[in-house]
Amino acid sequence: MQTWYVANNGNDDWSGSLATPNAGDTLRRLRRRQPLVWINPNRQPAKACLANLPFSAADIADAEARWQRCAPLLVTLFPELQNSHGIIESPLLAAPKLAERILPPNSGRLFIKADHALPVAGSIKARGGIYAVLYFAEKLALVGGLLDSEQDDYRKLATPAARKLFAGYELSVGSTGNLGLSIGIAGAALGFQVAVHMSVEAKEWKKKRLRKRGVKVVEHATDYTAACVVARAEAAADPRKHFIDDENSVELFLGYACAVPRLKQQLADAGIAVDREHPLFIYLPCGVGGGPGGIAFAARHTFGDDAHGFFVEPVEAPCMTLGMLTGRHADISVYSLGLGLKTDADGLAVSTPSRFIGQLMEPLLDGCCTLEDRTLYRHLRDLYETEGLEVEPSAAAGCGVPRLLLEDNAAACYLRENELLSRMPRATHIVWTTGGLFVPPEQHRNYRALAHGRAMPRPD
Ligand SMILES: Cc1ncc(COP(=O)(O)O)c(C=O)c1O
Repeated sequence: MQTWYVANNGNDDWSGSLATPNAGDTLRRLRRRQPLVWINPNRQPAKACLANLPFSAADIADAEARWQRCAPLLVTLFPELQNSHGIIESPLLAAPKLAERILPPNSGRLFIKADHALPVAGSIKARGGIYAVLYFAEKLALVGGLLDSEQDDYRKLATPAARKLFAGYELSVGSTGNLGLSIGIAGAALGFQVAVHMSVEAKEWKKKRLRKRGVKVVEHATDYTAACVVARAEAAADPRKHFIDDENSVELFLGYACAVPRLKQQLADAGIAVDREHPLFIYLPCGVGGGPGGIAFAARHTFGDDAHGFFVEPVEAPCMTLGMLTGRHADISVYSLGLGLKTDADGLAVSTPSRFIGQLMEPLLDGCCTLEDRTLYRHLRDLYETEGLEVEPSAAAGCGVPRLLLEDNAAACYLRENELLSRMPRATHIVWTTGGLFVPPEQHRNYRALAHGRAMPRPD
């Protein structure tokens, strides 16, 4: 077993000194692009906060029921869902070989939640994006008399009459790439017109894939936040345009949230307990916050105080860390720190976080981490070499969290104070890999070549 995550002091346990860096220190480190952990001082026990949130377990159940109602329709639209009977889900993969590289010894078991392989859209955005399209289509069909009720046969939404109805509407969205792919693919399959406003970071192959399906791709020379401003304004002026607002959408959020009750079943099937003695750590790459936010929210609902969520961002785009740390959420951008979104993690290249998600996360989230691109690339390589998985750079981010938690004094203090250090040998860690299925093979090879060139040498 490799032990290259040994702490600087030569200890390989999860302890550290008790110093807790203050917000000023964290801001200085953000400005200097230094990888860090920020522990959320406002996290509350589930009992104290869940009942006060604007969403409940019933909302997650309602969203899951919608997925189930739409499953026969999804099989009709996407034959690749035949085997899963129309359910878009990813496997939970045990990752013992990767654990040797990224978990300190004696710190529990490692799993990968393989959203990089989610069918139809090839990323975590399949959850939120496709759900949001289905939600809108269902609403139109019920109001327009195409569906008699929620008990009706939803395959009616794939008939010429439905396509005629949907063709009268344009879905629009701002995206760094993957959300646009999911909404474009689902929207076009139902017959909607779709306009995807792509930020400057969006990869060419994602735009090509959408154009092939007849989706209008609007290329912006600006970042994601600015692309959303244009898309939102255009849609506001036209009642036939429906803007799916990544920064504020409840539908996207609940679509993502449905992952967690399903994850609970997958953990149970794998014989993994989650309780006070067996804590669950979930590591989620974060852009504007919708995807990781929906999952972190549902994790606290599903597992209560035994679930510990951490968001991960590139050092060049730590928008959620900055928003939560300052409490200013969407009123502050990473540009104010002199950062410039210069990251290969295109899905995470966001300057301003979602206020909706940031505020919701205040009592729920354990913390945020930031990583350098060369670390992302090293983990992209780790995932390939150990488990044979091909992901895009954003999707490898979760791998970096265990090491950061180990080496950061405030994080170690937090783990100790919450009696998590002593339970670490019985913990389950989930690295959520968020995209990669549709990345062209030559691009994957290119990523690995970059990983060799850019990754930090291993200490051993
Ligand atoms: C691969 C990948 N991972 C993570 C994220 C982050 O999701 P969110 O922007 O909802 O925080 C994105 C966003 O596009 C993504 O493409």
